[in-house]
Amino acid sequence: MTPRQSRRAFMKTTTLAAAVSPLGAVAAPAAPSIIRSRTARPVVIASANGNFHKNGGSKTCVELAFERLTSGTDILESLIAGVNLVELDPEDTSVGYGGLPNADGVVQLDACCMHGPKKRAGGVAALEGVRTPSLVAHAVMEHTDHHLLVGRGAQEFARNMGFTIEADLNTEKSRKAWLEWKRQTDPKHYLRPEDRKTSAHVDHQRILRRLIADGVIPSRHYWGTIHCNGVNAQGDVAGVTTTSGLAWKIPGRVGDSPILGAGLYVDGTVGAAGSTGRGEANLFNLSSHLIVESMRQGRHPKDACLEALRRIRSNTIERRLRKPNGDPNFNITFYAINARGEHAAVAMYAEDDNERGWAGQTDGRRVRYALCTEEGPKTLPCEGLIPGALQDPA
Ligand code: GLY
Repeated sequence: MTPRQSRRAFMKTTTLAAAVSPLGAVAAPAAPSIIRSRTARPVVIASANGNFHKNGGSKTCVELAFERLTSGTDILESLIAGVNLVELDPEDTSVGYGGLPNADGVVQLDACCMHGPKKRAGGVAALEGVRTPSLVAHAVMEHTDHHLLVGRGAQEFARNMGFTIEADLNTEKSRKAWLEWKRQTDPKHYLRPEDRKTSAHVDHQRILRRLIADGVIPSRHYWGTIHCNGVNAQGDVAGVTTTSGLAWKIPGRVGDSPILGAGLYVDGTVGAAGSTGRGEANLFNLSSHLIVESMRQGRHPKDACLEALRRIRSNTIERRLRKPNGDPNFNITFYAINARGEHAAVAMYAEDDNERGWAGQTDGRRVRYALCTEEGPKTLPCEGLIPGALQDPA
């Protein structure tokens, strides 16, 4: 301390010096974290479509991702290889090629990914013409200084990175579903502010149920999406979420899936969380970030998911979004894992008529998720916040 330096100035200088790394960079204050694992039990967890579609091959998303991450492939690249199967499979109309299109009949895709150890992220939104938006999100992460590219810019970036750009990602199946929807509804996507209090928003729900009952669209595909996260034996955590978004959305609508903190959040020292279901509810509450922060405070993944669902429930105050008893009239599911490999999948409602027949399950309406451990792939029932079923009369 020079004679002219006050004690306070000396303390400030030495504290700053202590925060400078050997390379001269100023180290950011570390977020408090109580979970640190170098010997995790490898796990991959995903939405239920992650243990159903195989795109003509022999493995599902969670199987392939698990196989890759246990044989030394980078954690995020393993998970993305898994969701690519679903993006490319024309039978899954919630994701990638053959995803249900927007109101204009155009398939617009959203995706993001986060790499725990690298502390990097990338995303794309409203991307047209590329079957695998998760790979473009990964390219954003690896080759740019940015975290999110949208629309035409995202497509131009993909073209420059060598991705094939197709004129139309509809399949016969997705186009047929869109045409049927067009025939049945005059799309009232915009709400008049003066009508919001009385608008029950039932038309779309009723039409949706009819389309599902008629077999025009697979039940759960209205909000679509596959989310997949995982941890390897070294405790490396990553996650990816990819979707064609809300069926017949207003062109340009972006849901929760590509938004860091909403459709996905990863902190390499804590864990990962992601979602499927009503994206708007998640966007308003940034639930995946909330779940990871909650796990950072020591909560089990299941309790962290329940906390996020409670937050969504209490923030759902518009009548059009509530059942007569005041509970949300939509479903949303979170999938969380911590760096030790503990995991959970929790839905607002664990029972949902929209699950009937979903992913080859014929035994009722229980919402499910996909899991792969050293015991192999499984499709298991989710926990739920609100007892009973989404569609029960309340
Ligand atoms: N969760 C998917 C979406 O709302 O777009």
